[in-house]
Amino acid sequence: MRVMVVGGGGREHAIVKALKKSKNVTELYVLPGNGGMEEDAVCVDIGAKDLDKIVAFAVENKIEYAVVAPDDPLVLGLVDRLNEKGIPCFGPDKKAAVIEGSKAFSKDLMRRYNIPTAEYATFTDRDEAVSYLQTKSAPIVVKADGLALGKGVVIAQTTEEAVEAVNSMMRDKKFGESGSKVVIEEFLTGPEVSVLAFTDGKTVKPMVSSMDHKRALDGDKGLNTGGMGTIAPNPYYTPEIAARCMKEIFLPTIDAMNKEGRTFRGCLYFGLMLTPSGPKVIEYNCRFGDPETQVVLPLLKSDLLEVMMATTNGTLNNVEVEFEKGCACCVIMASEGYPSSYEKGFEITLGTTDGVYVAGAKKVGGKLLTNGGRVLGVTATAPTLRKAVDAAYEKVKKIEFKNAFYRRDIGQRALLAEE
Ligand code: AMP
Ligand code: GLY
Repeated sequence: MRVMVVGGGGREHAIVKALKKSKNVTELYVLPGNGGMEEDAVCVDIGAKDLDKIVAFAVENKIEYAVVAPDDPLVLGLVDRLNEKGIPCFGPDKKAAVIEGSKAFSKDLMRRYNIPTAEYATFTDRDEAVSYLQTKSAPIVVKADGLALGKGVVIAQTTEEAVEAVNSMMRDKKFGESGSKVVIEEFLTGPEVSVLAFTDGKTVKPMVSSMDHKRALDGDKGLNTGGMGTIAPNPYYTPEIAARCMKEIFLPTIDAMNKEGRTFRGCLYFGLMLTPSGPKVIEYNCRFGDPETQVVLPLLKSDLLEVMMATTNGTLNNVEVEFEKGCACCVIMASEGYPSSYEKGFEITLGTTDGVYVAGAKKVGGKLLTNGGRVLGVTATAPTLRKAVDAAYEKVKKIEFKNAFYRRDIGQRALLAEE
């Protein structure tokens, strides 16, 4: 089969590497991919938001199955556009992708269907948002309604900080139109778990759980990032909690989306917090997580294309989704300064490519150069978490580029929880 993957980061590289092992993939394209993926797929220089060009490419090249990985093209309706041309896709259509595209939509959905989440209120008027904040106590959380590259969330420690966040989103338009509506919600505490789940709109098959490390610096300090590393499985996510999440969160969400006429097919990402009063949804994403994918897919035993196609065809109940018993750890190697400003264009020396997922890099004259904030994800798998963590850091030592920056403590919190 002629398969194309839309996207160009580490998550897409992990998807590409897994699809390469699928028995029915004959040709594999990635749009745009990046210079670090050329060995694994044909990179086509078309951006993930350039819907017209993507559709034209798919038709011209007789693509038989498309995997739409990033949030933007999903929310913009790429799946609908490809389906119109008769090309089946992995990923939700535009109506279902709103579960990530609008936080106000997802919060209202959870309220209407009694899915546990933080208490909240939604505002389109700045003055009303500010008045509401005066009635609440800090810490409190302010979120831009739309997509904001994972940066539209402010955990305000004081009311003043919360007012400032509202002002920057609603008055100064820091996130453009994404901030014209804001959600203000109760601050929750507890360990966080990411659960990615395959679904065809009827059956839900969760993948192995994982833990992201969102802050830039060791000890969960510094700015929020897209994710500085992950481990799987997440030791906080016990079989009892998993069963509870299936009953109280996963199935009710699928059911709610069906009742809304927004059947979700693809990968639904549940960002959960295990609070003292039970698991609650922090956020939904309509796609694989990044860098969660870089620890989850290396543990997948089943044929990825087969599972993906089953979500499209409504036959997920009939396929096995099996994972290795072991553990995985992914350390993100970033450019010093990320998520703020950083320099790029430095040569990368890869002492290994095994388990290395290339994100912010490009090929120039045969050399691989840094070209983004998150440059690489370096993953190792092993029978135990301790061994996976050590092996990932061993691999990191074999990779060099100027201004390389990474957290030294990926997996430490999980190891403590295990003990
Ligand atoms: P989000 O983009 O919604 O996943 O938020 C980014 C991060 O902010 C999450 O991973 C949490 O660590 C934190 N966060 C979001 N909402 C809350 C909340 N209601 N209470 C506490 N922390 C939160
Ligand atoms: N790692 C979090 C996300 O993909 O949104």
